[in-house]
Amino acid sequence: MYYSDEVIEEVRSKNDIVDVISGYVRLQKKGSSYFGLCPFHNEKSPSFSVSRQKQMYYCFGCGAGGNVFTFLMEYENYSFVEALKYLADRGGVKLPEQEYSKEAKERADTKAVLLEINKLAARYYYVQLKQTQGAHALSYLKNRELSDDTIRAFGLGYSNKYSNDLYQYLKSKGYQSEMLIKAGLISVDERQGVYDKFWNRVMFPIMDVNSRVIGFGGRVMGDGKPKYLNSPETVIFDKSRNLYGLNRARSSRKPYFLLCEGYMDVISLHQAGFTNAVASLGTALTPGHASLIRRYVQEVYLTYDSDEAGTKAALRAVPILREVGITARVIRMEPYKDPDEFIKNLGAEAFEERIGKARNGFMFSLEVLEKSYDLHTPEGKTEFMREAARRLTEFEEEIERNNYIEAVAEAYHVGIGDLKNLVGKVAVQAGLAVPAKRPKQTNQQHGGKEDGIVKSQKILLTWLIEDESVFRQIRPYIAPSDFSEGIYRTVAELLYEQYEAGEVNPARIMNHFADEEEHRDVAGLFHTRIRELTSAKEQEKALKETVLRVKNHSIEEAAKQLDPTDMPGLQKLMDVKREMQDIQKLHISIN
Ligand code: GTP
Ligand code: MN
Repeated sequence: MYYSDEVIEEVRSKNDIVDVISGYVRLQKKGSSYFGLCPFHNEKSPSFSVSRQKQMYYCFGCGAGGNVFTFLMEYENYSFVEALKYLADRGGVKLPEQEYSKEAKERADTKAVLLEINKLAARYYYVQLKQTQGAHALSYLKNRELSDDTIRAFGLGYSNKYSNDLYQYLKSKGYQSEMLIKAGLISVDERQGVYDKFWNRVMFPIMDVNSRVIGFGGRVMGDGKPKYLNSPETVIFDKSRNLYGLNRARSSRKPYFLLCEGYMDVISLHQAGFTNAVASLGTALTPGHASLIRRYVQEVYLTYDSDEAGTKAALRAVPILREVGITARVIRMEPYKDPDEFIKNLGAEAFEERIGKARNGFMFSLEVLEKSYDLHTPEGKTEFMREAARRLTEFEEEIERNNYIEAVAEAYHVGIGDLKNLVGKVAVQAGLAVPAKRPKQTNQQHGGKEDGIVKSQKILLTWLIEDESVFRQIRPYIAPSDFSEGIYRTVAELLYEQYEAGEVNPARIMNHFADEEEHRDVAGLFHTRIRELTSAKEQEKALKETVLRVKNHSIEEAAKQLDPTDMPGLQKLMDVKREMQDIQKLHISIN
């Protein structure tokens, strides 16, 4: 289902961003921008800005930003096409019809209805908790030392003892059984007829990152089995792409997340002031979770249960996180079972201390490994070091690998040189002398080794977008083709075209990116702040270095592709290299 750029731009231009956002946020004009309280994180003074001229919004507090489509994608959790459709309606633009397939339309409608149903159910459970029939559930939560504020903040509730009262309630609101089944809230069987999935349980609504209820976990108040019952996956509830507590943790302003196992762990941690805690939803951590986390932080502290299962889960999580560029650290809860019990017994300060003592994820994995070898015998220690060396070969980047070799050598009292040799030998034996290729990444920003150059390209692009005079000075040296293929090159091409045409229109550039992930990445380009804290002189230096790095990388890539017999190609490459010298001499001025 593709819509032409023209249609998309028409829809966008018929929906002034200030008018649209005013429907959600109270905006006040200040200078050339409008300001309000950011709807994407909690704040008391407005740092959310909307520019009528640029047709973009940006929050200086949490970094959310984009055009009018992005806003609806973020706020309403719409897909790009859903946002397009909504705005077409609003702006009176008729979308070409055949482009909307019947299935797609039904899916979009279903999603909206399921969200409504879940929201109503959450409210219903919450009300039940406060009624007489919910008294024992409330006292269960109180016994677990949850405050009224916490209960409200997480929307905890209670599902009644009757077998179908939620069903009756939702029916009375006009929803069809078919939809209620799709929402995972009721089941039907021949013997019992229609009945609620959850009854006599404490209810934990599960929310997406925009605080919309997408499912539930229900806990028995005692020792019954199963301890937790969870909503099945539905079109709005994908367990491997949502994290419990993320809707609150995203605005915690800490540079790392605490990743734990259970709902109760997240809630206790938040109550104790650790508002950056999240949990996966009763499943092991997936790459989907990891890239979701990567949108917000680059570091994760694993606070898994201290039992064997928790340790194993932590060991599995470390490489999954590393794959998307997140550094993992491990916090131990001993002698307690999990963060919830730890906090209850030792309090927040002691937990803060444990955070300080967190172990590096890789070193932690060696400590666990150590237990299956007898390090007091030479054979045992050799075997262990060999396995450690094998694991060290998995660090592709030399600097990183060497840092770890140093750390391991120190921890296990072996010579750095010896360990380096062993790592090299093991690598050759395993045929790993050439570092293994990473699996293909969908998102070019998370390419490990590529990270540095991608960052430079990103910064340069942001600069070009922000400052026309910088663009004019750099254009003779940098072309869109100097950017790596993918979203950055596309953005560069569009941007260069717009400059040539005499009008930069960032909101229009964003139209091109309908995929949610890409859309977000591109939005980031328009908002990365590059000018903070440094003098113009330092900025000029940084900018020049960035230009050189991008150009250099582009030349290297071209050289790799070049056929040695291709004389004209070779000549061109030499010319470009000479240009590098010009750039060295160039004075870029920033005003
Ligand atoms: P409390 O025992 O109430 O403190 O909960 P907890 O959050 O500490 O739970 P636990 O560590 O036992 O389990 C971690 C997570 O796994 C839970 O939050 C649930 O998401 C999930 N889980 C636990 N038990 C079950 C179960 O019986 N069935 C299912 N489907 N999931 C479960
Ligand atoms: Mn627990």
